[in-house]
Amino acid sequence: MSHQLVYYSRNTVPDGDRAMLTNLREIVSASQRNNSHNGITGFLIFDKTWFVQILEGDRSKVTETYNRIARDTRHATATIMSVRDVEGRLFPNWTMGGAMRTPEMQEVYLQHGIGSEMNPATLKSVQVVALALDLQAFEQAKRQGQRLAS
Ligand SMILES: Cc1cc2nc3c(=O)[nH]c(=O)nc-3n(C[C@H](O)[C@H](O)[C@H](O)COP(=O)(O)O)c2cc1C
Repeated sequence: MSHQLVYYSRNTVPDGDRAMLTNLREIVSASQRNNSHNGITGFLIFDKTWFVQILEGDRSKVTETYNRIARDTRHATATIMSVRDVEGRLFPNWTMGGAMRTPEMQEVYLQHGIGSEMNPATLKSVQVVALALDLQAFEQAKRQGQRLAS
């Protein structure tokens, strides 16, 4: 039995690709280090305004990780959308997979009824999980393509 927590928060990093990318690189590397140590997996969806993250693992580790993340000043007003026990992990291969919204993903977002602006406050956690699964598949297909091309 595994535990899953979904939350969203507001990105407080001033808009501007450079600062945002530097921050994200730091977040991803800290996540990979800590999450592999704690047996946490998950997925992070983000754009210039929002973060939406899914954390999976042991209940105590998920709670501990979420509490640490929630204090991070690079985002604000972290809001839990759902916490539940799940049979298996949906993102077992990612210590923290992530997808920054880019124009090439537009199709995936549209398939989930999300137009130009995502507003996590109006989404249900099952929609977030479904979107993350498709973004995960999209990213994996892209990587596969890159490997084949090189
Ligand atoms: C949106 C967002 C998502 C994050 N996700 C994770 C995560 O999954 N795991 C993690 O350990 N830290 C995550 N962090 C970073 C933590 O807030 C914190 O900076 C980090 O865990 C500190 O690690 P360190 O003490 O090893 O430097 C996230 C931060 C933000 C803003």
